[in-house]
This record gives sequence, structure tokens and C-alpha cells, in this order.
Amino acid sequence: MGLLFNPYKSGTILAMNAQEIRKAYLEYFKSKKHVIIPRANLVPQNDPTTLFTGSGMQPLLPYLLGEPHPDGTRLVDSQTCLRAEDIEEVGDNRHTTFFEMLGNWSFGDYFKQEQIEWFFRFLTEEVKLDPAKLFVTAFIGDKEAGIEKDNESAELWEKLFKEKKIDAKVVNLGSEQNGYEKGMQNGRIFYYDAKKNWWSRAGIPSNMPAGEPGGPDTEIFYEFEHIEHDTKWGDHCHPNCDCGRYMEIGNCVFMQYLKNADGTFSNLPKANVDFGGGLERIAAAKNNNDDMFKISLLWPIVQELEALSGKTYEQELTAMRVIVDHLRTAVFLATDGVVPSNKTQGYVMRRFMRRAIRYAFGLGIEQGLCEKIVPTIVSLYEKEYPEIAAQKEAVVAVLVKEEKIFRQTLRKGVNELRKIAAQGKLSGADIFTLYDTYGFPSELSVEEAFVQGFDVSEGWKKQFDERMDEQRKRSQTATKGTFKGGLGGQTETHKKYHTATHLMYQSLRNVLGDHVIQHGSNITEERLRFDFSHPEKMTSEQIKEVEDSVNNQIDKDLKITWEEHPTKHAIEDLHVLGAFGDRYGDIVKVYRMQAKDEKKPFSFEICGGPHVNQTKELSEGGKRFKIIKEESSSSGIRRIKAILI
Ligand code: ALA
Repeated sequence: MGLLFNPYKSGTILAMNAQEIRKAYLEYFKSKKHVIIPRANLVPQNDPTTLFTGSGMQPLLPYLLGEPHPDGTRLVDSQTCLRAEDIEEVGDNRHTTFFEMLGNWSFGDYFKQEQIEWFFRFLTEEVKLDPAKLFVTAFIGDKEAGIEKDNESAELWEKLFKEKKIDAKVVNLGSEQNGYEKGMQNGRIFYYDAKKNWWSRAGIPSNMPAGEPGGPDTEIFYEFEHIEHDTKWGDHCHPNCDCGRYMEIGNCVFMQYLKNADGTFSNLPKANVDFGGGLERIAAAKNNNDDMFKISLLWPIVQELEALSGKTYEQELTAMRVIVDHLRTAVFLATDGVVPSNKTQGYVMRRFMRRAIRYAFGLGIEQGLCEKIVPTIVSLYEKEYPEIAAQKEAVVAVLVKEEKIFRQTLRKGVNELRKIAAQGKLSGADIFTLYDTYGFPSELSVEEAFVQGFDVSEGWKKQFDERMDEQRKRSQTATKGTFKGGLGGQTETHKKYHTATHLMYQSLRNVLGDHVIQHGSNITEERLRFDFSHPEKMTSEQIKEVEDSVNNQIDKDLKITWEEHPTKHAIEDLHVLGAFGDRYGDIVKVYRMQAKDEKKPFSFEICGGPHVNQTKELSEGGKRFKIIKEESSSSGIRRIKAILI
């Protein structure tokens, strides 16, 4: 046990810190005959469907599906994970984009009994958390999917709590909503439905695509007694309430089912355990402090930032949390070979870095952020992750370089602001432009204007928020897609519209006939536009039919791949689609959009790309394909405008 600085008291207390918890976990499971495996790269190596490793099981998917693992049937690790989609949540006391997921696996080896007992003992006997502060949840069953209630887990928990002299009452909550209505009811073990106690990469059973593994889970929560329930979340508190009183610290997934093409479930070849525990969260529980940033892996970075800015953490909670989180993420990305760029992982990394630098600018740190902070981050991880130590200089160099580039942009932004403000008041629209073009946060513009003695128009905030809202609506799809599996920012929307265009082209041919030939296509962030040969106005029935066809293909989640073929063969033998007047070289690239269980592609079209990976991405955020205009473009040529909304 080492010394942990307790930020709330002066002096030090004896406690297990995050590094020690990680080590203890690996050792504990090693003593249960698990092989310790190294973390996988943050960039998935054999999985093009996602940009980042977001859970411990992801790199182990083939083994959960039945492949034998070279290290046997029991593995343990601490997997570095990145959930970039949480970027906007960072700033509160518990969200981070990067985290370590403690993981242990049984590939058809031990099951519920060992898993639940071992993790409980690890928490209560190794980490020495007070069992009275632990609450658990289990799966209530799902009639539709034909999966039974998980009585076994609840019984195992009851026994373990009893051992600790805790009479664990079982409560059937079912839905989250019911939780808010009924509350804790003096319970300790809570049954919830699939929304809470079923785990697969795609979520609840009905959302899982064919071939996806999943199973019921049992989750462990830590209670921060000092947090009073906030009724803004619901009348009563319950383990899955968002008020922060209960924090999930571990999830035992009993991965034993596979979704079939017909929507039913069958057993996987072997029943597996996929356990994931949040290292940082367990450390926060150990601190009995709900502020995750006070743990031993984050607090030293905060302190460095305080020293650098001359401001205190309490004064600048959001900014400091964002900077600490984002730079830590960037350090691991750089270690794993990512460089800031305008594409894929590099784009996300750039976004993290720029956001951190902007916030630092707001704290008055106008240079040398990475030079100072990055070595501190490295020092916190280099012992356990030697690859960080080995690349220390390179990592610092990559980050410092990006900071230099972005600072120039920021400076240009300041100059621009001065120019605009010199002509009169700074409006909300101006502030938005500065934000949009130079990445200037609104507070920074207002502050700068204030420092420079410029006026800011009164309604600026409202106007700024309106523009921001419009922008958000426009790019919502883009952002989501970016993190799930595609190119960055605006490009992602383009890709979706591009994919939708292919689906629509084939649908038009199916509905109207083979005389339909593409005569032009234009895609913006807001819509697709498509010109095609057809002699008359489309009827509303035809329009509806085309829309339905496209949405149907989106829902079927066609896989999108490309291949190269000699042009003559592609056109004459494979009958791929092309566009009127296009010239092709000897070899063409052809995009194939095809359902898993179908022999033929729905769409097979000559195209340079890029496209999304799966058509389902087009419906992210509940979006549907809709034709908003059908009109004449020129003689014999119709023009369609369509959107994803
Ligand atoms: N795979 C499970 C999770 O990510 C453990 O929560």
C-alpha cells in the first residue's frame, strides 16, 4: 500500500491508489489461474467497423465467439479504452473519454459462481471497500428474446452479502422508469430489464445484428452516501439513477448467446464471462470521493495545471477536467501511433488536442501546455506501460508540434476578433463565426473583448446559441458517425449522403425501370441531390416506394465493401452501375452494398468512395431517408433532393 494524497485533508492517508488497484486486480486473477495479457492498441487492429477500442472485450471478440486463445481459457488485463463519443460530457466529476477497463475472461471455463464471488472478494477483501456500500443489479429476463430471469446471480449475491452480515433484499424494478417511481425500497439486489442488464456491443437484444454475441449481466454499484438524490432525475433514487449517488464500478457479462438471422437467440459454442470494471471508478470509490479527477492517476495532472495557470481546480473545474482528460487521451493515442490529421483517428486526436489547448488558452496558458503537462502524464503510466516510456520523446514531440500549429490559428482568431470588434459591437453571429472558424469558445471571445475594451451586443448569447443549435443539428449525424466508425466531421455526413445516393439510385431503377441513369450528383452537408433520366414527374406513390426501399436497405444493415475489376468485365459481366458520360480507366473501383444473408448485392456501383461501413449508420440518431423535392432539371432529366432526418 502506498501513500495517497488526500485533497480534502492536509497531509496524507494510507490507502490503495489507482496504480495499486490495477496491480492488485491483475495479481488476484493471476492467483485464480488467469494469464495476464497486455493491453491492445487503442486503434483496433483487425476491426474496421470502429475507430477505437472502447471495451476490454473488443480485441477478444473472436475468442468469445469460440476461437481458442493461445493463452488458454482464463485471461486478465487492464485495457485502455477510448469512448470519443463522450467528448461533450467531459467536464463533470466523472466523465472521461479515456479510461482503463479491468477485464477478466472465461472462455467456456468458469461461470457465474466464480465470477461473482471473485469480484466481490476482490472489492471487499483486496481493495477493502465497505460491502455495505455495494449494491448490485441483475437481469429480469426478456420474454420476447426468450431469455430467462437471472435468478442464479441474485442468489449468489445474497449469499455473499450474508457472509458479510448484510441481509440483501431483492427488489424487482424492471424498467428504469419504475426505479424512479419506486426507489430503493431498502433493497440491495435489483432486477432491471434488458436496457440496463443486458450487454452486447449493439445494446439490447432487439438491436443486435445477426452474428453478434451478448448476454445478461450483473452490475456492481458503489454508493456515495454524501450525495443527496436530485429530484430533477426522478422522484426517487435507485442504482441506475443519474444523480451520481450510485456509481457503476463493474459489470459481469455472461456472454452466452448469439443472435440469429431470424431474430432468435442460440447458445454460443461456450458460455463465457466478460467482466469489465472501471479502474478509475474503483479508485474513486476507494477514495470515497465522487470526483474522479481526485484519483492518483489524474490528480497530479490537475496539480501541474494549477501550477502552470496559477488558478485553482475549484475555480476552473470544467476547463481543468477537459484539459486533463483530453491530453491524457492524446498521449495514449500518440503512443499507439496516431498523429493529428484531418482523417479518422487523427482527426479525433486533433479535436481532443485543440479542445484542450483552447481551454488552456482560456486559463491564460498561452504556450508550452504540452511541454509541461505531457511529461507528467507519461510519468503516471510509464512504469506499467513500458511502450509509453519507450516513446516518450516522440510522444512529446507530436503533441508539442500540434500545439504550435493550433496556437497560430488561435492567434489569427484573436486578430480577427479585434478587427471585427473595432468596427462596432461584437455580435452573437460574430462570436459564432470565431468559434466556427478559429475554434474560439464563446467565453474566450467575450473575455477577450472585455480585456480589449470592445462592446459585446446584449443578446449575443441567444444569437450564438441559435447558430450553435443549427450547426449542431447539421452535424449531429457527422459527429456520431465520426466516433463510431468513419471519417471526421463534415466528411462523415458526406459519406452518409454518398451511401444514401447509391441506395437511392438502385431503388429508382427498381421502382421506375432500367432507363434510369445517373446524370449528376451533388452532396453537401445538408442534403443529397441527384439527377437522372426519366421522362415524367414521379408520382407520390413512386416517391414513397423509393423512400421505403432506401430505408428498408438501411435497416437491413448492408455491409459496404469495395473491390477492383477490369472495367470491361465490371460493366459487361458484372453489370455494375455507372453514371452517364463518366470515363473509366482500365480498372474500376466498385462499391458493393450487400446484406449478410443475401447472395447478391443490392447496389453494385462504380465509384471512388468513400462510404460508410454499414448502411445502419445512416439511421443513427433515429434518422430516416426522405425525398424532399422531385422536379424537372432539364428535358428528360429529373432532379431529386433528399435528406436524412
Ligand atoms: N463488455 C462489458 C462492458 O464493456 C464488460 O461493460
